[in-house]
Amino acid sequence: ISPKYKFFREQGLRPMRQLPSALIIGVKKGGTRALLEFIRIHPDVRAAGSEVHFFDKNYPRGFQWYRQRMPPTLEGQLTIEKTPSYFITKEAPRRVQHMNPSTKLLVVVRDPVTRAISDYTQAISKKPDMKPFDQLVFINSTIGCIVDTSWGPVKLGLYSRYLSRWLKYFPLSQFLFISGERLVVDPAIELKRVQDFLGLKRVVSERHFYFNSTKGFPCLFKSEGHSTPHCLGKTKGRNHPYIDPIVIQRLRDFYRPFNNRFYQMTGINFGWA
Ligand code: A3P
Repeated sequence: ISPKYKFFREQGLRPMRQLPSALIIGVKKGGTRALLEFIRIHPDVRAAGSEVHFFDKNYPRGFQWYRQRMPPTLEGQLTIEKTPSYFITKEAPRRVQHMNPSTKLLVVVRDPVTRAISDYTQAISKKPDMKPFDQLVFINSTIGCIVDTSWGPVKLGLYSRYLSRWLKYFPLSQFLFISGERLVVDPAIELKRVQDFLGLKRVVSERHFYFNSTKGFPCLFKSEGHSTPHCLGKTKGRNHPYIDPIVIQRLRDFYRPFNNRFYQMTGINFGWA
């Protein structure tokens, strides 16, 4: 029996596992782990620790299986799960709607150019013999040539395409878009928006964060499972490789119309150059 269960039992309370009522659906490398770790400080939030991949890979296992992956909750506590690949999974919108049409959907978005580089940085850390970024990003590996939209790190940044699939199943009012950039610069402001959107009391605030100048990111004074100050793990906030500014510019030009479309759809200008 876990200490948490023991605590519940001693209180005469019966914890139950619930299907999530809110999901962090993406985007990969947007800052999804940071958001999950920050929101789960809230006493009325319980989160599945690792990515469950239910609506993409594990759907045939059924909702009962999914519910068993969730932490026990008490009445009034909200269950949340994050799997960033949901955003780009074709079947996910219909499946999530089938679970619960009022599911709240959180999407952390980040400049698609830096997001692509971040994605590449993660990939090369697992597979060091990968070709350089500027060879993979263009068809024929030629700078100035056509951007290869079939390459995962590029394709995933076409947010408007993926969002239009979701909007066939959910109204815009059920989404909250969080700026990955602002989550780094001012996590408390973004967390205020998240708590309001989820109908939670504003508990997570400035006092939970400090800026760790070694890490170069906001870190937490304490959180679930840590009573001392700590930052996210080594795989979050990696150094990116140097990329030729010409390549960056070419990518910026490529994404501009897609970004503008995304701003129109969401009604938010994320300010990506
Ligand atoms: P980089 O490693 O490229 O800097 P995800 O959790 O969705 O995979 O996103 C990872 C990204 O979260 C990191 O990408 C980093 O920029 C960003 N991030 C946002 N807030 C962070 C924080 N407080 N600590 C570390 N990384 C953070």
